[in-house]
Amino acid sequence: MSQYFKHLEPVKSPVLQMQLDELDLNELQQAIQQCIIDKGALAIPESYEPADYFPLKPENNEQEKLYTKAFEAGINAIQDGKVAAFTVAGGQGTRLGYNGPKGTLPVSPVKNKSLFQIFAEKILGYSEKYNVTIPWYIMCSPLNIEATTAFFKENQYFGFDESDVKFFAQGVMPATDFEGKLLKSSEDSLAFSPNGHGGSLKALIDSGSIADMKERGIEHLSYFQVDNPLISIINPLFIGLHILKNSDMSSRSLTKTGPFEKLGNFIITEGKMTIIEYSDLPDDKAQETDQNGRLRYRAGSPAIHVIRRDFIEKFANDSLSLPYHRAEKKVPYIDAIGELIKPETPNAVKFETFIFDALPLANNPIILEADRAEEFSPVKNKTGVDSLESSQKDQIAKAKAWLKTAGQEIPESETVEISSKFTSIEDLRGITLSIEKTDDAIYIDLK
Ligand code: UTP
Repeated sequence: MSQYFKHLEPVKSPVLQMQLDELDLNELQQAIQQCIIDKGALAIPESYEPADYFPLKPENNEQEKLYTKAFEAGINAIQDGKVAAFTVAGGQGTRLGYNGPKGTLPVSPVKNKSLFQIFAEKILGYSEKYNVTIPWYIMCSPLNIEATTAFFKENQYFGFDESDVKFFAQGVMPATDFEGKLLKSSEDSLAFSPNGHGGSLKALIDSGSIADMKERGIEHLSYFQVDNPLISIINPLFIGLHILKNSDMSSRSLTKTGPFEKLGNFIITEGKMTIIEYSDLPDDKAQETDQNGRLRYRAGSPAIHVIRRDFIEKFANDSLSLPYHRAEKKVPYIDAIGELIKPETPNAVKFETFIFDALPLANNPIILEADRAEEFSPVKNKTGVDSLESSQKDQIAKAKAWLKTAGQEIPESETVEISSKFTSIEDLRGITLSIEKTDDAIYIDLK
């Protein structure tokens, strides 16, 4: 036992004793050092510049040629079965406060489809379009994997072949109080929490998912979060640029709505790409503008990536690892007299690694701008920004815009939903649609 750890009293519960015995003390010691002793102050680089990105639409001839080539390369990789979908769904969704895995939350405005159903339909839509089986890997946590798999089973895997959806659990870390003392969630258990979305890299390896992908010939993973129903999961241009530029890990960016929008900022420091959190970007930097009057640090991260399988393999045996971040959260715990306390304010430190910390370790990382209205409207909060209400509004606006651009005339209605099987506006052009109309809502599907 290291200098950091001591038992204050004998442990009575055998389960708790087993948990203590199984703790990886080296890992915990590192996490405590980084997040409690050093206060989680991951060094903010002294000098940095905004990272370059590929704009959504090509801005010159050369780019136009590149985008055309990239689109083709992307389609070829998809059709050759080299791309898998990967959802990180191990978070606890504390801000939303929904009782259940977030992917099971009904979010679509007419049919109340869950996030998981929307993603399933999208992936099946791409599979059909490109005449290939696109497997789907879903990372859960030990706390929600049972409920997640039960949900898929109840819903017959939303039309997926059971062997093409793989669930696995990420690692957990014990939560501590602000002094680094382990918290108990009951007399028999430590308070564990998932180790952050960065935990996905190791979990993909440890669960055998990477080996499964290798066997299937998968070379690239389309990484997305569980909370964004607008996600463009299989995007040929993005995948193609990632391939042509030989990138280990590529990212989409959103053009920030203002200097202080709460998105991580893509930067380059000492030749490496990384993300600096919005809270760490000094105000004067955040407000800097270029010669066109645009924010210099305008590329924000919506956490959408394509990652090479062989890059992830480098994280095996801890040869590469990610630093821990300190997340101050409300964690219910058992106090000294055995009473369960449900804190009103953050009382605990959760140790989390973040996927974007893999960027500086990646070769040739590239960024492609995304269209916010088309691709990003997450459900994170109960109300206001990034809530169910705002996301449904955006889902409806996107459906209406797609129908209009595709030249489809539909009856006037406030609320419109289109089947997630439509993968692009092109899929809607010149076909006869099935239109289901209820009082004030319309649902559009394939005939
Ligand atoms: P968030 O940062 O939104 O965290 O996760 P969260 O835990 O879901 O929600 P809050 O902060 O408690 O409200 C972004 C994405 O990363 C996944 C989430 O499921 C979501 O898709 N995630 C997060 C994991 O898979 N594991 C984790 O340990 C944390």
